[in-house]
Amino acid sequence: MTDYPQTTNQFLKPYNTKRNSKGNLEISSCDLVELAQKYKTPLYVIDEVTLTKMAKEYIEAFSIYPKTKITYASKALMTSAIAKIFSNLGFGFDVVSMGEIYTLLNAGIDLKKVSFNGNNKSIEEMAFALDNNIDHFSVDNFYELEELNKLAKSKNITQKIHLRITPGLDCHTHEYIKTGKIDSKFGFDLSQIDCAIDLILNKYKNLNLVGLHAHIGSQIFETQVFYDEIGILLKEIKKIKDKFNLELNEINIGGGVGITYIEGDNPPSIFKIAEIVKNSILDNCKKYNLVEPVLYIEPGRSLVCSAGFSLYTIGSQKEIKGIRKYIALDGGMADNPRPSMYGAKYEAEIASAKEKENFENVTVAGKFCESGDILIKDIKLNSPKSGDILCVYNTGAYCYSMSSNYNSILKPAMVLINNGQSDVMVKRQTLEQLIQNDVIIDRLK
Ligand SMILES: Cc1ncc(COP(=O)(O)O)c(C=O)c1O
Repeated sequence: MTDYPQTTNQFLKPYNTKRNSKGNLEISSCDLVELAQKYKTPLYVIDEVTLTKMAKEYIEAFSIYPKTKITYASKALMTSAIAKIFSNLGFGFDVVSMGEIYTLLNAGIDLKKVSFNGNNKSIEEMAFALDNNIDHFSVDNFYELEELNKLAKSKNITQKIHLRITPGLDCHTHEYIKTGKIDSKFGFDLSQIDCAIDLILNKYKNLNLVGLHAHIGSQIFETQVFYDEIGILLKEIKKIKDKFNLELNEINIGGGVGITYIEGDNPPSIFKIAEIVKNSILDNCKKYNLVEPVLYIEPGRSLVCSAGFSLYTIGSQKEIKGIRKYIALDGGMADNPRPSMYGAKYEAEIASAKEKENFENVTVAGKFCESGDILIKDIKLNSPKSGDILCVYNTGAYCYSMSSNYNSILKPAMVLINNGQSDVMVKRQTLEQLIQNDVIIDRLK
């Protein structure tokens, strides 16, 4: 068995996590208790050192297949600063909305390396993307083919596209984050591909089809599924070549690589993924006599998640004798909906210094008015007290981007740290902002 270099997605904590001389938890030379005091809690924090390391590991691992283009899946975490970091490293972006495109443009990033995904892009979103010269669309369905062609024609453009297909692969992850199986809302199923190609070649003259796209799910630990996914994409490309005399020379295999959320999770090294991907491309191109295609990958979670953590202040506590002790935080399901949505699990640690060790089994609850607002069920924490700062690890992906204002609670700020430096990258929401779109109708005054 080959030993692959370990990559950041395999570690539970960001690099340089330790206790400092005061006994407080410290990450990238930033004292977490001081960060909490300075920026208040709840607080999202991203460690730029860990983030950059992971990004560079992706680049290095996939250098074994030089035709690779990495487009960061913005849905995992999108802010102007994050966009800038990835853009400066040469990454492109996968976007799914006008809002994500707008954020990129706001950060001064053009759409030359951007692909537009999504199962129900609005006409307005498609027009906005076309007007801003997006590189390509991953077209999801017949409705989009027709509408995009109409728009492209009205603007006198021939738009580059991929077709998103549902490869019919089932991977072992949560039902809500599986996307590759037949019964999925995303993409053309395999039996619809011929009809789509026929339409593109004979009717939709303003669309230029260059590739196929698939995404099989998220938080995946298996590796063979990526080999199989590529096999299906290339087999379809071969069938298209034979039937339509059209050789597509791009494939996009989506994202999906898992990370370590809790002790015992075993996600793969990105070096292993890259090797499997390369082998599958070479094997299948040989088998089907195809030219090796340009490869797009769209990692989201595995690029940003391990670099992120959330800081909370512990408030009330409730002990039900012989049953359970709850400790409640000043945040919860609105800033991190994943536990209540998918039953996601997290590790956490008291950041505040403790004189001695006295671990207690507790359940970490949020402050929102839902019994399901439990961030962590049953975790051992070192004598948690009201006023202590709690650090929840691995909240870099799908937390801020999925956050809400449930209970009219303000969204937290987000801070970027790097070797002792800290900068706000998203300001804490204010009460004025919370109600800025709220209209008191004249007749109710
Ligand atoms: C089309 C597509 N690509 C990429 C991703 C990113 O997946 P992950 O964050 O698991 O890497 C997603 C996530 O849902 C997706 O839908």
